[in-house]
Amino acid sequence: MSNPIDRRGFLATLLAAGTGLLVRSVKAAEQPDKPKDRLVAVSLGSLDGIREKGSGMLAEIQGETLLLIRTEEQKIAAFSPLCTHEKCVVEFDREARQIECNCHRSSFDLAGKPVGGPAKEPLRQFPAAIKGDKLIIKLPTDPVLPPKSQKN
Ligand code: FES
Repeated sequence: MSNPIDRRGFLATLLAAGTGLLVRSVKAAEQPDKPKDRLVAVSLGSLDGIREKGSGMLAEIQGETLLLIRTEEQKIAAFSPLCTHEKCVVEFDREARQIECNCHRSSFDLAGKPVGGPAKEPLRQFPAAIKGDKLIIKLPTDPVLPPKSQKN
């Protein structure tokens, strides 16, 4: 013998589960395909400003301006040069061996972490690796510097 309350409860549970699945399917269908990252490669020989550990430079690489820091003999970190305070372009200070923003005097260490001034967030970093005689950087599909960005 079946209990009608149990059957009603079962049907309500089944209906709720079906609705949940339908909502998830619709949400998944609404999301566009996630854009793929871009891989850019640059010859290490062209990066004179970062030959030694602790050095850094702004570099134009395939239409993008990036801040590159040689953190180890075989490691180079790639950052967006946009200050996380109000989006001015930062610079590498060779004497102080740190990253500085001249707009409101924020400074960042070689890992991109803020160490002074009003910026509270680290610089945006992109995966980068040395492969043979090239530096390979994985960039997002959106431009690193928005078109309106001004260099200091
Ligand atoms: S924009 Fe860099 S410190 Fe304000």
